[in-house]
Amino acid sequence: MTSKLNQLLGTKLNIIQAPMAGVQNWELAVAVSEAGGLGSIPCGMLTPEKVVEEIEQFKAHSDKRYNLNFFCHEMEPIDQDSLKNWQSLLQGYYRDLEVESPNGLQGLRYPFDSKMADCIEPFKPPVLSFHFGLPSQELIERIKSWGTVILSSATTLEEAIWLEKHGADIIIAQGVEAGGHRAMFLTNDLNSQMPTVELLLALQSHVSVPIVAAGGIGSKDDIRKLVELGSSGVQVGTAFLLCNEVKTTKVHRASLKSNKQITAITNVFSGRPARGIRNKVMIELDYISKEAPKFPYASIAMAPLRAKAESQLSCDFTPLWSGTNRNACEEVSASDLMKTLTS
Ligand SMILES: Cc1cc2nc3c(=O)[nH]c(=O)nc-3n(C[C@H](O)[C@H](O)[C@H](O)COP(=O)(O)O)c2cc1C
Repeated sequence: MTSKLNQLLGTKLNIIQAPMAGVQNWELAVAVSEAGGLGSIPCGMLTPEKVVEEIEQFKAHSDKRYNLNFFCHEMEPIDQDSLKNWQSLLQGYYRDLEVESPNGLQGLRYPFDSKMADCIEPFKPPVLSFHFGLPSQELIERIKSWGTVILSSATTLEEAIWLEKHGADIIIAQGVEAGGHRAMFLTNDLNSQMPTVELLLALQSHVSVPIVAAGGIGSKDDIRKLVELGSSGVQVGTAFLLCNEVKTTKVHRASLKSNKQITAITNVFSGRPARGIRNKVMIELDYISKEAPKFPYASIAMAPLRAKAESQLSCDFTPLWSGTNRNACEEVSASDLMKTLTS
């Protein structure tokens, strides 16, 4: 399975740099691919034009393979009542920070669609990864016709079986330790979410495609242990967050560096559960709020609060995405981090 993964990825090392929307671009992807891993470009928050720019930048700086990452959630119609209700819950914060509650639809995350496929088709990207399931069968068949390898994350055994059946060539087993959004797409029940090792073991005898463990990986010993347990490779995100090539903001960097800050899962930033370092708004809204509008609409209401707070160097309203393990987070080049993780 390890060599099958190696063939599919076409890289020297079976290490995938986790795509991390909002904090990195082609620069980190180039550094990781040049270091022998698979660099990923997060495209979930980009327009098709911007995605094309990212691919062109990658190709101008590296001839290695790369992964483009997209979200494929169902974009339900906007529920104005739910948005209004959420904004009224946040009213006190708007008042304290002296900002207007927003009325546009800026900064939303859109799912992968045929327009995006049109834009990336000329590049025949070597690898595409998806979060929150997979796009339609028609799009999957189209992507496969380019020779592109398809990855997606599973958080339960049912999701892994579903992904293999619907065309994933590689399954990322996203354990509950992982930073950022939970990839869960067949369940909303957070009690179903398992630690990385447990999930890896649960999946092994039930899927025939390579499994890549993700979540809480912060050392070469973590990687060795997962490979010994049968993982074909690993996907690592949080460990890269302080690297020189990453655009992590000042407040996010400061929180990542603090040993005292622990993480929790919350839906208050986007409407979907995601793991980040605990901050004021997560705690005060009880982490998982039934009132939060559906993904991705909850993020609209939080945007001005985040902007104003960050301008005052406060992280109170910032999604400080991070996994549980920050042991490998250091202000070094991604190539040095790759050496630490693999030497
Ligand atoms: C800051 C951050 C942003 C993330 N954004 C994405 C994303 O855009 N797409 C995606 O598929 N996964 C995203 N993830 C989740 C990763 O794919 C992966 O599951 C996770 O980083 C692995 O756990 P670790 O952070 O403990 O290494 C993100 C993770 C972090 C930490």
